[in-house]
Amino acid sequence: MIFVVAGALLFAVPALAGSGAKLFVSKCGSCHKRGGAASPVNPADKAGVVWGKYFRRGRHDVDLADQISDAEMDEILEYLQGHAADSDRPESAAIPR
Ligand code: HEC
Repeated sequence: MIFVVAGALLFAVPALAGSGAKLFVSKCGSCHKRGGAASPVNPADKAGVVWGKYFRRGRHDVDLADQISDAEMDEILEYLQGHAADSDRPESAAIPR
């Protein structure tokens, strides 16, 4: 039993490390890409605190509830805030311009 749990953790940790970034590119990038429905966006476009309020206060132009779950949005927000304009590692090329 313990081995099963340890094995699951070994797989879960690397997957979790980049899942917000992958979700950002796949979910947000489905519209926000060059030639897509919306202009490209990147974490460094806003400060961390701004990202934190952006979706929760309904600032986004399109309701995303039917395509991005709350759990996925939490992971995306963690990534956005970790690489926001005022973070240690601003990311401005996740979705190419
Ligand atoms: C169904 C398509 C769609 C998806 C998915 C989507 N967006 Fe948008 N988004 C839009 C549209 C349309 C606009 C308004 C037009 C524009 O800014 O190009 C917009 C606007 C924005 C803006 C404002 C841009 C500006 O210059 O002011 C931000 C920031 C943004 N989206 C971030 C995101 C993030 C982060 C995600 C993923 C969690 C996401 N969007 C997912 C369609 C989408």
